[in-house]
Amino acid sequence: MKECRLIYKSLSTDEIVSNETLQEIIEKGSKNNSEKDISGLLLLTGNQFLQVLEGPLEEVNQLYLKICKDTRHHHVNLLNFELIAERYFETWNMRLVDLWDLPGTQREFLLSKYKSKDEVIEIPDNFLEIYSLLLDAKSFCTSTPWK
Ligand SMILES: Cc1cc2nc3c(=O)[nH]c(=O)nc-3n(C[C@H](O)[C@H](O)[C@H](O)COP(=O)(O)O)c2cc1C
Repeated sequence: MKECRLIYKSLSTDEIVSNETLQEIIEKGSKNNSEKDISGLLLLTGNQFLQVLEGPLEEVNQLYLKICKDTRHHHVNLLNFELIAERYFETWNMRLVDLWDLPGTQREFLLSKYKSKDEVIEIPDNFLEIYSLLLDAKSFCTSTPWK
């Protein structure tokens, strides 16, 4: 079966950041993704989302179409779509990493590596940096090298 990796960014509505909506998205999304054999990571920085989804081509496509229509965020922007032989974010069906909540040393590392505004790390324009940010977030969640 063909598998793909899809990466997009979007802007959250105030509703999402300020109440349980985000928790609801994570819980439901995690269950849905598990049923569809989709894995990935959802990064939140300020009011910006960056999500990577990996899994069967058809399932990821269908999910992305649903996500685009979701009114809890806007300005959904596809950053990359590729067929893959190997998943990089297979550890979780859906995992939220809010960069604001990272421990100090990890935040400082990201602030020194990526552009930021008012202490909020910006989603890079350059694709290699976007990948790098996602992989940094993954490594923070799977290990604690700075402890
Ligand atoms: C930023 C963002 C990320 C989302 N990620 C996922 C996801 O990974 N999986 C998922 O099933 N739904 C996700 N959703 C929710 C979908 O847009 C949609 O509401 C959900 O898939 C509908 O599921 P249902 O058809 O089972 O009701 C996300 C929504 C937002 C705003």
